[in-house]
Amino acid sequence: MQLNSRHLLGLEGVTCEEITLFLDTAASFKKVLERPIPKVPTLRGKTVVNLFFEPSTRTRISFELAEKRLSADSVNFTSAGSSVKKGETFKDTARNIEAMKIDTVVVRHGSAGAPHYLSRCVDASIINAGDGAHEHPTQALLDMMTIRERLKSLEGLKVVIVGDIEHSRVARSNIHGLKTMGAAVGVCGPSTLLPREIEKMGVTVYPHIEDAMAEADVLNVLRIQLERQERGLFPSAREYRMLFGITRARVEAAGRPVTILHPGPINRGVEIDSDVADSEASVILEQVTNGVAVRMAVLYLLAGGRTIAEGEDHA
Ligand code: CP
Repeated sequence: MQLNSRHLLGLEGVTCEEITLFLDTAASFKKVLERPIPKVPTLRGKTVVNLFFEPSTRTRISFELAEKRLSADSVNFTSAGSSVKKGETFKDTARNIEAMKIDTVVVRHGSAGAPHYLSRCVDASIINAGDGAHEHPTQALLDMMTIRERLKSLEGLKVVIVGDIEHSRVARSNIHGLKTMGAAVGVCGPSTLLPREIEKMGVTVYPHIEDAMAEADVLNVLRIQLERQERGLFPSAREYRMLFGITRARVEAAGRPVTILHPGPINRGVEIDSDVADSEASVILEQVTNGVAVRMAVLYLLAGGRTIAEGEDHA
C-alpha cells in the first residue's frame, strides 16, 4: 500500500490504513535503531531541509537524527540568523531553498496553514512539524505508536487530553488520529482553554479531572503555556495544579491503571508532578525514542517507500 498524498500536512483526513502503515513502518524502523549500527542507506541521495521558524528541541533533533539514520543529506535552517531577518518572505525563502534541489521540507511555523501554503509554492514533499495551534501530525503519530506499544491496540481505548486544548496543535492532531483509529477521546481543562464547540469534533468534555481519570485508560497531559496566565486565561500555576494537575494522589484515587503521556517540555509541579512523570505509568521517554522511528517512517513513506516486511534490513 502507498499513501494518498506526498505531503504530511496534518492527520485530519488521513485514513486508518495510512496511519497503520505509518505505525507499522515506524515499528520496523525502531528495530533498526536497536542495532549496533543504527543506520540504513534507504534515503541515500535524497536531500531534506529542516525549516524551523519556531523553537524546538524534540521535533527538530529527532527529524535530524531520523534523516541521518536513513542516510539522507540534511540541512538545517532556523529563522534567527537567516535572511528572514532582512525581510525575505516565507515564500521566497522556501523557493530559494528549493532551487538548491531539495526532495523534502520539514517545516515548523508559528502560523497555522504555513505548511499547506508551502505545499502549493514548491515541488518538494512537505512535512508539518507543527503549525501554530493547528496540527502536529508526527507528534500524534509517535503518541499513538507509544500507546499501541504499551496497550497493544488503540481501538476501544479512552484517551483524555488534559490542559490547554485551545492553543494545542498536539491536541488537534491526536483527536483526528485517535478517533480515526477507533479510540474514544475526551478533553479536560479550564473552560477558558477549551475551544468553543469542541464537542463537534466528537470528543467528551470533562470539566473535572477526577471524572476524566475515573474513565481514562490514557492521559495525554499538555504543557501549560505559562505565558497564557498573563492574558488571564487561568488564574495561577498553583491554582491550575490544584484543579487539573496530575498528582500521585489523583492517580491512586482513580483506582485503575493509567498510561501517562506528555509531549514535552514539562512544567514539573504544574500540569504534572515529578513522581508521576517519572513513574512506571509514564511513557514520556518512550515517546521521545519513538519520535525518531516515526519520523524515519514518515520520511521514508513520503519518499515513495512501500510497506516494510518484518525483519527487512532496508539495505
Ligand atoms: N513535542 C514538541 O513538539 O516538542 P518541541 O517543541 O521541543 O519540538
